Amino acid sequence: MPTTPRRRFLRYLAASPALCTTGIATSLAGSGWEDGQDDFLIDAPEDALDVFDFHTRAKKMLPPAHYGYLATGTDGNETLHANRTAFGEFYLRPRRMVDTLRIETSGELLDTTLDSPILLAPIGSHNAFHADGELAVARATRSRRSLMMLSNVATRSLEDVIAARGAPAWQQLYPVGEWSVTEKILRRAERAGAPVVVLTVDLNGDSNRVMLGRYVRRDERNCDACHSDDRGSYFDRRPMYHGTGATLDGRAVVAGMTWDFVARLKESTSMKVVVKGIVTADDADACVRYGADAVYVSNHGGRAEASGRGAIASLPEVVAAVNGRVPVIFDSGVRRGTDVFKALALGADAVSIGRPYIWGLAAFGQAGVEAVIDMLNAEFRMVMSQMGAPTIADIRREHVGA
Ligand code: FNR
Repeated sequence: MPTTPRRRFLRYLAASPALCTTGIATSLAGSGWEDGQDDFLIDAPEDALDVFDFHTRAKKMLPPAHYGYLATGTDGNETLHANRTAFGEFYLRPRRMVDTLRIETSGELLDTTLDSPILLAPIGSHNAFHADGELAVARATRSRRSLMMLSNVATRSLEDVIAARGAPAWQQLYPVGEWSVTEKILRRAERAGAPVVVLTVDLNGDSNRVMLGRYVRRDERNCDACHSDDRGSYFDRRPMYHGTGATLDGRAVVAGMTWDFVARLKESTSMKVVVKGIVTADDADACVRYGADAVYVSNHGGRAEASGRGAIASLPEVVAAVNGRVPVIFDSGVRRGTDVFKALALGADAVSIGRPYIWGLAAFGQAGVEAVIDMLNAEFRMVMSQMGAPTIADIRREHVGA
């Protein structure tokens, strides 16, 4: 019996190392409607009041399966929700009578000069959200002078992204298959001019992406034009794996990683090494001992384990364990300027956004990404001013209570 396009799509998802498996479910409860969001549909980026307005429009624009891929957490989205509510457990302690007429957000991270500590996290398959895919995001980060991390499972190559940015991008790494696959990706990223490789370590096993499954089964389209096996394997459709010999058989190697992998990576590349997906003090300490140049606190935007712990709640223990030895980057759940401020006050050196810039991309392409970056930076500057912290160095632990 021939399989339906939808079944084939589900099978494809199950076979994708970075997409993970879908689950069995019965309702659309907890479908990702986020705080403060209503169903008003904006017509132009400048009409947005906050980043959730881009979410509303992105949800309307995207095919159900693609929206499901973007929005999903794992199990009942416990971690996804906790990523937002945990911010509420930290309150702000503003200081008065500080001159904040001039706000300065610039800084440096791993020898990269930053205009703002708000970075763009690696997200796979931008072409699923807009025809211009990663190139639209690259152009937006060029015009806004923002740092972009390119996913290893991007739909555009690092070379094309760097050309569109007119500046280097950081390369994220999912090591699949043999070490030779990793080595080829490293050499290619170095040649292209990436100064930093971001090793993602938080997808050790399959994660149960129930919400994705719910949206996929509601999607009535024929998805063969993009997802059929005739278009090659998963890795054939991911330019950063071209020529590496990666096969889906190699996916188990992700689960086979131990700390020695970080040391080996460090020895094998001239790029700085960031370890992404750390949520505990012990692992943060291990990152530094095994040579990481930065520790990246993240729970993959609630897409890894359904721990139910918000990422921001992990930040203080990681910062304490790192103890200033290397920079700390934070993501998962950042939606407002106050979130950025709280993360920096708790000790992060930079903060990344994931879904919000993809909402902008899906809603309005490059202009939407630019608008999201502008909005979060404007909100962050407003909070800095209100909190009496005119520079990044002025943002201190005393600015937040719990
Ligand atoms: C991701 N994330 C991710 N991380 C990574 O290291 N490589 C990747 O390819 C991807 N792909 C990806 C796809 C989608 C659709 C999402 C939503 C997330 C995780 C990402 O880098 C980041 O950690 C989270 O998105 C941050 O959480 P928020 O901002 O989305 O809540």
